[in-house]
Amino acid sequence: MNAKRILLVIGGGIAAYKTLELIRRGRERGLAFRTILTRAGAEFVTPLAVSSLSESKVYSDLFSLTDEAEIGHIRLSREADLVVVAPATADLMAKMAQGHADDLASTTLLATDKPVLVAPAMNPMMWQHPATQRNVARLRADGIHFVGPAAGDMACGEVGSGRMTEPAEILAAIHAILVPPGERPLAGRRAIVTSGPTHEAIDPVRYIANRSSGRQGHAIAAALAAAGAEVTLVSGPVSLPDPPGVAVRRVESARAMRDAVEAALPADIAVCAAAVADWRPAQAAEAKLKKGRNQPAALELVENPDILRGLGHHPQMRPELVVGFAAETDDLLANAAAKLERKGCDWILANDVSTGSGVFGGSRNRVHLLGSEAPVESWPEMDKDELATRLVARIAERLGR
Ligand code: C5P
Repeated sequence: MNAKRILLVIGGGIAAYKTLELIRRGRERGLAFRTILTRAGAEFVTPLAVSSLSESKVYSDLFSLTDEAEIGHIRLSREADLVVVAPATADLMAKMAQGHADDLASTTLLATDKPVLVAPAMNPMMWQHPATQRNVARLRADGIHFVGPAAGDMACGEVGSGRMTEPAEILAAIHAILVPPGERPLAGRRAIVTSGPTHEAIDPVRYIANRSSGRQGHAIAAALAAAGAEVTLVSGPVSLPDPPGVAVRRVESARAMRDAVEAALPADIAVCAAAVADWRPAQAAEAKLKKGRNQPAALELVENPDILRGLGHHPQMRPELVVGFAAETDDLLANAAAKLERKGCDWILANDVSTGSGVFGGSRNRVHLLGSEAPVESWPEMDKDELATRLVARIAERLGR
């Protein structure tokens, strides 16, 4: 969704801090933001933070002569592809429902001819109040889109429905409005993504694991879903939220991951981003190993199934496009090319982990794309979300739509 323009209205709620993240993540995905900060919104986030992140002027005053000289409220409301209100307070929604126009935010919302997406955030009692629910019903009837609110702990200490949804979910809702399902390049395609580490049990409380965070795999699953694919994400233990619009199967061991991948077949696309443990203890002890009784216990290890290799050489249901990762410290390209061949993949994304380009746990990544049919493509270092978007664009190109 390149160069789509969002007019973001930030209302006065504590959730406004999440809107800063929304701007950052949205810009990584090619969205451009103009922002209106309400007077109450400015009590929670500063105009400087908003303008720094959006790299654009922040508008706040309806009667500011400079603003009107530069760009009037009518233009502000029209020169956008979508208006997003986040956080939308009870008061802002009441004004919208009534058609008030007594400040820049409400006037612009009344003047716009573009779709409007609202992300409410308020105390659960305020959300449940009949007055708010009346306003929500009115706004829905007027064609306003909603995302959230979610249930959970509130900043005010209460629990219930009223939390603003997370930025990733708001971005998915933005995408859903800007790019209708029929126009998405991977509509009708099925994809399987593996992500995160695996845990291989030693006994009921101990396991072998690695430092994979799952960020790259989860970002790829989200990007595939945003491109219209039906995605199953098979994830090892991670502390990430489920990507929006994705079916998530949670597993612990490599064998459980392999079984979940098998169960998700057939698929057109498989992306194996999980850091699967190569080895597991031959026997997981049924009771916790005790210091006195069992020591010094040597750990006998046996090899785990290679999930990527299994997919690349699948006898009946090989996906049309099989993609793997290769983290190497030396002879990166030669080792990656050998892996491409051995595992029967179409593409390998090779990470040079010798420079520490944040592969495990970090938020950035630098890869070379090796394919059986094309020369090596070296991509610059970028954020994992951006890498995911770029990979999915290449997948869509390759699968021919
Ligand atoms: O063999 P190596 O672990 O270096 O290969 C990395 C690639 O293989 C990654 O795409 C990883 O997800 C996949 N893999 C797998 N099952 C394993 C080991 C690795 O799917 N048992």
